[in-house]
Amino acid sequence: MANTVIIGAQWGDEGKGKLVDLLTERADGIVRFQGGNNAGHTLVVEGKKVVLHLIPSGVLHQGKTCMIGNGVVLDPEVFCKEIDTLGEQGVPVGPDRLMVSLRTHIIMPYHKILDAARESSKIKGNKIGTTGRGIGPCYEDKMSRIGIRAGDFLDEDLLRRKIEAALPEKNALFAMYGAEQLDVDQVFEQIIPFARRVVDYIDDVPAKIQGLQAEGKSVLFEGAQGTHLDIDHGTYPFVTSSSTVSGNAAAGSGCGPATIEEVVAVVKAYTTRVGEGPFPSELEDAVGDHLGEKGAEFGATTGRKRRCGWLDLVVMRESVRLNSPTGIAMTKLDVLGGLEELKICVGYDYKGQRIEYPPQDQHGLAEVAPIYESLPGWNEDISDITSFDALPANARAYIARVEEVLDVPVSIVSVGPGREQTIIR
Ligand code: GDP
Ligand code: IMO
Ligand code: MG
Repeated sequence: MANTVIIGAQWGDEGKGKLVDLLTERADGIVRFQGGNNAGHTLVVEGKKVVLHLIPSGVLHQGKTCMIGNGVVLDPEVFCKEIDTLGEQGVPVGPDRLMVSLRTHIIMPYHKILDAARESSKIKGNKIGTTGRGIGPCYEDKMSRIGIRAGDFLDEDLLRRKIEAALPEKNALFAMYGAEQLDVDQVFEQIIPFARRVVDYIDDVPAKIQGLQAEGKSVLFEGAQGTHLDIDHGTYPFVTSSSTVSGNAAAGSGCGPATIEEVVAVVKAYTTRVGEGPFPSELEDAVGDHLGEKGAEFGATTGRKRRCGWLDLVVMRESVRLNSPTGIAMTKLDVLGGLEELKICVGYDYKGQRIEYPPQDQHGLAEVAPIYESLPGWNEDISDITSFDALPANARAYIARVEEVLDVPVSIVSVGPGREQTIIR
């Protein structure tokens, strides 16, 4: 298989985990390149559900190297718990097949406190609706060049000194937010049992990726979140704190961009969003409830109810422009079954004019009105269908219209959560 990036093209939860698990069969290495345990990637294999937050979604396949890249932010406690949970489920994950980059930034206890304090505070203004996992504050420290990296766990004296250097500023912020003060020993003691386990997994991830590629083996790059949660290209400020677009796969893992041959954009057959922020095609009616219930749209990380709406191809046009997908994987097509009429958003009315791409100014997306095209639905249960031609004609027409508007082939169709419920064209 070609070296392939898999990214979410909407606002996350498109079904990236399922796709990565599926495609891992043909890959040799799988690397997460951004985000942290704000992600929740669900795999369903032989009826058993596994939710991964940090460990690459290829982990259920033996004999493949799973890697956590420099672009990821890693919570050591979550990392250890995830390994333990997998072990209890009969999937042992040792350093022989899981690596953490020396340069991966560490989510510290104070990052989580700060995330929560800001979200509940009235001082800061905008509530983002974050996952509360300390993601933003950790990336802030990375950019401020005061972050702690996995490699720092190899020298405990250095680790202590770095905590010492970081804390005064954090405590000043805690005072402002009315949160409790932290001391160095407390933070050190809290982190050290997990740090000592992470150390076993630390390795030179860029060298591993480059080595696999040099041998003609293939690497899957697993994106988290979605294009419209991207720190630059998303619906700022209602975004996550990392670069979620395909272009970051190389930088966030440590290889050259020209080694990447394919980009699969994962697109849910409708749209969902968790947290705050504009969502033009949102449905706050019975159809929205239907999608939420049939699609079981509850967050895999926080359990929050996902907001639901029609497929928005304006947002998708932008995703195509930003990610250069060579193919689309359309997921959850089965969920649309049973609706008489389906709508897809093909343009926006913005200040009295029709536009084809989202407005680039920060608040524009909150002011657009979606322009819909109507397509006939289907009633059949498609969740057992294994070939494209066996899909109801209206389902095929729905996909064909998406391909036409976006000018990208839908190369994979997912009709259920199970690994086998997938049509590869
Ligand atoms: P990710 O964050 O992009 O990996 O997606 P999530 O795992 O957070 O959310 C996708 C949800 O949809 C999970 O519960 C999957 O098991 C489920 N899922 C994936 N593909 C399909 C599909 O084609 N049909 C249905 N009904 N569920 C799916
Ligand atoms: P996966 O990989 C959906 C959203 C949060 C919030 C915003 C910022 O499962 O698709 P953060 O904690 O990152 O600072 O929160 O981003 N968000 C996600 N929404 N899927 C995700 O990941 C998300 N990760 C973050 O809900 O709106
Ligand atoms: Mg998810």
